[in-house]
Amino acid sequence: MAGNHAADHGRRNFLQLAAWGVGVIALAAGAARARAQTTTASPLKIGMVGAGRMGGALGALFVKAGHPVMFSSRHPENLKGLATRLGPLAQAGTVEQAVAFGDVVAMVVPYAALEEIGKAQGRALATKVLVMDVCNPIARRDGDDLVKWVGEQGGAGLASAKLLPGARIVRAFNGISYRRVAEIAHRPGGPVGVPIAGDDPKAIALAEGLIRGIGFEPVLVGGLAMGNRWLRSTRRRKFDRSPAACAESRRGLSQNRSSSRLGDRLSGGGETRGRTHWRRAPQLSAV
Ligand SMILES: NC(=O)c1ccc[n+]([C@@H]2O[C@H](COP(=O)([O-])OP(=O)(O)OC[C@H]3O[C@@H](n4cnc5c(N)ncnc54)[C@H](OP(=O)(O)O)[C@@H]3O)[C@@H](O)[C@H]2O)c1
Repeated sequence: MAGNHAADHGRRNFLQLAAWGVGVIALAAGAARARAQTTTASPLKIGMVGAGRMGGALGALFVKAGHPVMFSSRHPENLKGLATRLGPLAQAGTVEQAVAFGDVVAMVVPYAALEEIGKAQGRALATKVLVMDVCNPIARRDGDDLVKWVGEQGGAGLASAKLLPGARIVRAFNGISYRRVAEIAHRPGGPVGVPIAGDDPKAIALAEGLIRGIGFEPVLVGGLAMGNRWLRSTRRRKFDRSPAACAESRRGLSQNRSSSRLGDRLSGGGETRGRTHWRRAPQLSAV
């Protein structure tokens, strides 16, 4: 994922817009109510499929929150150092072992790997209460054909559901960089909002608890089909928290359902690097 600053810049701009819209909707729902919602009280076993930059960073936050985590990849021997550093709650294993281990499984692999993993582990993944899908289709890494195919399915949410049939998928953390995720967890003054999308209410509730537990505020933007929707918004009004702005944002959400590219990112497409939207969209901290 090195290089291609233009694409990253576009993605960042995009995330700013998406973050704005998500933020004002969440504010409309009420910050107090959001904060009153639960975190996941008891530890959950979490299988991380993919333990690179993002999988390693996110898994470390789960460990820090008290969850037993098994990190996995095709080369589990390379993950022993990570597991040792994180202490007794962390271990390393094969993908098959991590899927078997987890009550919850987090998919944090290149999008192109999902098909193969779905074929090998699909049956086991379909038994999990939650499969957190952090994966983004990115042309320079996964290929133009795959990105095109994802678009044809209606966005990453619906495409992941095809690749992992029966899995209770919630897309989350797709727009937060691995470089910042640890640093901005439990942000003083209010948590950073994390847009999530899913179709299964129990999986969504579980994801919300897990996300709160590691120091973020989940913001449900819709079902997996959110990949077809996008928000009409402008940077000019990105800090406007008025009821009118909230209403306009909601109208934009319901009226603009035809773009898969923007909506794809809203429901989870595209990670960011360097300076990202949470600095520029402080309203997310209030959700
Ligand atoms: N980097 C970010 O800031 C960020 C933010 C949000 C979302 N994401 C998304 O998260 C996913 C991972 O990104 P990343 O930056 O963490 O990538 P990465 O650093 O390259 O890590 C990828 C991980 O997946 C494993 N992997 C690759 N192919 C696999 C396969 N077929 N089966 C099992 N494991 C496999 C790799 O290990 P082995 O090669 O040893 O198998 C590695 O542990 C991507 O979809 C990305 O778009 C990334």
